[in-house]
Amino acid sequence: MLQTSLRHLAVVAFAANFSAASALADATTPIAWTSVPVEEVTLFYPGQSSFQWLHSPEHPGARMVGRGTACKRCHRDSERSMGNDIVSGGLLEPNPIDGKKGSLQLVVQAAHDEENLYLRFRWKTQAERPGVMHNYMRYDGQAWAFYGGPRSAKRVRQGQEPPLYEDRLAIMIDDGGVQRFAEQGCWLSCHTGMRDMPGEPTSEAVRSHPYLGEGGLGRSDVRKYLPASRTDTSTSWDKVKSPEALAKLKDKGVFLDLMQWRAARSNPVDMADDGFVLGYRLFDEGKNPFSWNVDRDSMTPKFMFDPKKVGRKSLTVSDIETGPEPAALIREDNAAPYDPDAGWKEGDVLPGRLLSRVDARGSAADNSRVTGKWEDGSWIVTWVRPLDTGHDDDITLKRGNTYTFGFAVHDDNVTTRFHFVSFPVVVGIGLGGDITAVRLD
Ligand code: HEC
Repeated sequence: MLQTSLRHLAVVAFAANFSAASALADATTPIAWTSVPVEEVTLFYPGQSSFQWLHSPEHPGARMVGRGTACKRCHRDSERSMGNDIVSGGLLEPNPIDGKKGSLQLVVQAAHDEENLYLRFRWKTQAERPGVMHNYMRYDGQAWAFYGGPRSAKRVRQGQEPPLYEDRLAIMIDDGGVQRFAEQGCWLSCHTGMRDMPGEPTSEAVRSHPYLGEGGLGRSDVRKYLPASRTDTSTSWDKVKSPEALAKLKDKGVFLDLMQWRAARSNPVDMADDGFVLGYRLFDEGKNPFSWNVDRDSMTPKFMFDPKKVGRKSLTVSDIETGPEPAALIREDNAAPYDPDAGWKEGDVLPGRLLSRVDARGSAADNSRVTGKWEDGSWIVTWVRPLDTGHDDDITLKRGNTYTFGFAVHDDNVTTRFHFVSFPVVVGIGLGGDITAVRLD
């Protein structure tokens, strides 16, 4: 903690020294947020309402969805009741999580100047601690093993391991390049066959797929993709267009920008990640702020906390209950190479992820001024997104234009479908939209 606060102090001092030239040197922007309009977006629990389900006879709106009708035409202001309905179990949620809420109010403020879009978000977390613990490893007296997991995992449901998964805020942006996103939003990217969705293929099937598997992206599961990336009308996970056809679509701007603020893997270094969706959910070119802290051959951590800087080499299981400080290993800040002879005891815990702001680079590091603070049971996240990142795997935002955004929050130790999502939201840069980013300069 000491080290982290020193780092922040250094940034503040830097900003103070150069306040005239770089008033926005820090991610916690000196914007007078109190003068920026406050909007609220209701996010709701979608369960397994995939693109395929929406077009199926099970969905009364299927025919109109097939013609491109907007979800909100029939579902205006029904997010809360839909979410409550679905989260409690039934057709669209075969495996409900006990006590989970059905919707979430996302408070949004937006502003812009010549350079940047500034966003500020606030939402209440269901848990009484921030979700800052992710991919942790526990020493059992002899070896290290992954510990904890999302609430949907069997071993967590059965109480054998604690719920541990990071809180996240995701933003999808379309500039009109993706047909029907304006009307149907995130649902265009959610399909049968994806992780935790019906019809999930085996990992072997994915690994032997020419595009997704070992000869291609090297994946073993299916993640978000767009209908435009598939060859058949039911947009099957395995009917992927050729790499040449996908590249052409990408050049034409047929992709979604997808950025995620991650409470464990990006927030401790004041960043969000940066990716895009077309044939799969991929990260942009370059290097993410996070990587694995695990040597997969020996299953030992690569780094531990630096006792000289943090006062101890690891966390323990009991720190998890209270919310540990610091929770994250940051290479340039508080990490030391793992010492196998440091006297490890049963119940010692280390993050299985290593963060670095210094090592992050390229288009993957575009969101380098994103700061979240958890206070009084709510996250407040301030996000600076350059209007033009200068990278062709991002959407360029222009003043005077509107864009369709989709928001999602993963709250209270969940991943995949167990999130809250919004219907499409129009954001105007300077004018127009459901939310207008007000002009600062
Ligand atoms: C032509 C009208 C219409 C359109 C357009 C439409 N729906 Fe529906 N949808 C319905 C009706 C009617 C129901 C059943 C009643 C209800 O639950 O609201 C329904 C049910 C649902 C449900 C199940 C709700 C529950 O409580 O179990 C979901 C989820 C859903 N729709 C999502 C969508 C999404 C996402 C879109 C846009 C891609 C969409 N719908 C577009 C009419 C429509």
